[in-house]
Amino acid sequence: MDKKITEISESFEKELKSVSSLKDLEEVRIKYLSRKGLIPSLFDEFKTLPKEEKPKYGKLLNELKNSVQEKFNARKKELESASGGEAKKIDLSLPGRRKKLGTKHILTQTTEEIKSFFKGLGFSVYEGPEVESDHYNFEMLNFPPDHPARDMQDTFFINEKFLLRTHTSPVQIRLMEKVKPPLRAIMPGRVFRNEAISAKSYCLFHQVEGLYVDTDVTFAELKGTLIQFAKHFFGKNVKYRFRPSFFPFTEPSAEVDIWWEPKGKEGRWLEILGCGMVDPNVLNNVGIDSENYTGYAFGMGIERMAMLKYGISDIRLFYDNDNRFLEQF
Ligand code: DAH
Repeated sequence: MDKKITEISESFEKELKSVSSLKDLEEVRIKYLSRKGLIPSLFDEFKTLPKEEKPKYGKLLNELKNSVQEKFNARKKELESASGGEAKKIDLSLPGRRKKLGTKHILTQTTEEIKSFFKGLGFSVYEGPEVESDHYNFEMLNFPPDHPARDMQDTFFINEKFLLRTHTSPVQIRLMEKVKPPLRAIMPGRVFRNEAISAKSYCLFHQVEGLYVDTDVTFAELKGTLIQFAKHFFGKNVKYRFRPSFFPFTEPSAEVDIWWEPKGKEGRWLEILGCGMVDPNVLNNVGIDSENYTGYAFGMGIERMAMLKYGISDIRLFYDNDNRFLEQF
């Protein structure tokens, strides 16, 4: 038995050294370690030994088996890493996986475009809260107490006093309370209306408010600025008109329409914004002397501007987060 153990151990070491491929190694494994291999056969022999010899050989055999297995494993690792191992399975000629880059939401892009136009004219950017008080959203803007816009149907009220702002016009008030004229700012932000949801109206949307107050601001300046803006945004050949309108916080007031003629369809006038000269009552409300100062204001819906510019037919698309829509911009 002793002799056999030494022989097997020696021949295994020799063969293991001469092995040069994983395939050869597998043959060595079968010869020594498989179920019918040399080492298991020694264990079979062990069973026939007299009882007193068993402890000694049991120990020797186990040591042999463990050392053979260990050496085999080490050699296997060596051969695997020499042949490239895992790395060899990577096909370097395959095209790489492209990381998908997101884009800015079309509403963000549109807001930025509007902002950058007005910044170029010297307007700064100012923002106000989305949860607003009745005081700023209506009262200070010269809404009479029974004005229909205060109606429960249009406004999301939080309680008697607070609501989700229905327009960005209250930011005008907040700005005029803080900054004395001359002042010129645009005020972008989210607004909320309690209306039935459809392709045309959603419970929330975005507006950009504009305000310019100085000693002699005129309606002509308002017109000039908005015409330039419409040409910049929709292209220099855009057809537009100013139509008299009414807002509690401006006097006189107007709405601007552009001529809209989608391919193959009949054209029509579409409103893009409201504007006017700041009502003297509003100036007085914030402590600006309406005898010395005048101002103009305007407000436009950002979704509507984007819908017209890009031919988007349903306002809900802006809020669905459907990549097929978002990826187009
Ligand atoms: N706040 C108005 C709205 O939500 C829009 C508007 C009209 C704003 C005229 C103005 C303005 O500043 O002068 O419908």
